[in-house]
Amino acid sequence: MVRDSPLLGTKVAIFPGSFDPLTNGHSDIIHRALSIFETVIVGVLSNVTKESLFSARERIALIRGEFAAYGTRVKVESFSGLLADFAAAKGVHLVVRGLRAVSDYDYEVQLALMNRSLKGQIETLFLVTREQNSFISSTLVKQVASMGGDVSAYVSPRVAQALRKRFKKRKKGV
Ligand code: PNS
Repeated sequence: MVRDSPLLGTKVAIFPGSFDPLTNGHSDIIHRALSIFETVIVGVLSNVTKESLFSARERIALIRGEFAAYGTRVKVESFSGLLADFAAAKGVHLVVRGLRAVSDYDYEVQLALMNRSLKGQIETLFLVTREQNSFISSTLVKQVASMGGDVSAYVSPRVAQALRKRFKKRKKGV
């Protein structure tokens, strides 16, 4: 029998990721999470090992701009180190992750199990993205944008503009 679960009546969830940059797939998951939870903390990993295109500050600003209309229901914060520690520091027990396809499954289950092993009271809730977002990833979006491709179907106008600016600068060698 489940007694005194810290998850009962969960109002706040963390949606962690690199968000380099935010895609329509990420936004879809945030909207879905907002239909379940009162508050969604978007946790932006700041110490990405791979080189990121946008700084943590830039990634956060892009997400904040996108969800400004939700006020305090969407909080965007950076974290470094373990997600389990970030969640514990926030007093949050629920992590939301998006699933696009079966190919995400192995990695996502590993991540969920590791987080639960590190902090017993962390539960991961998987939300399935809209089918039209199922092939979108930040990595592919960056690749397309870097070669001058049109990414308007995969990211918001704000993010598309940021990508154009970044790659123009890079071409100029700034
Ligand atoms: O968007 P991503 O890159 O798939 O997000 C991955 C992320 C940031 C959720 C994951 O790498 C993470 O939680 N990193 C923090 C370090 C950590 O807690 N590692 C142990 C769990 S595997």
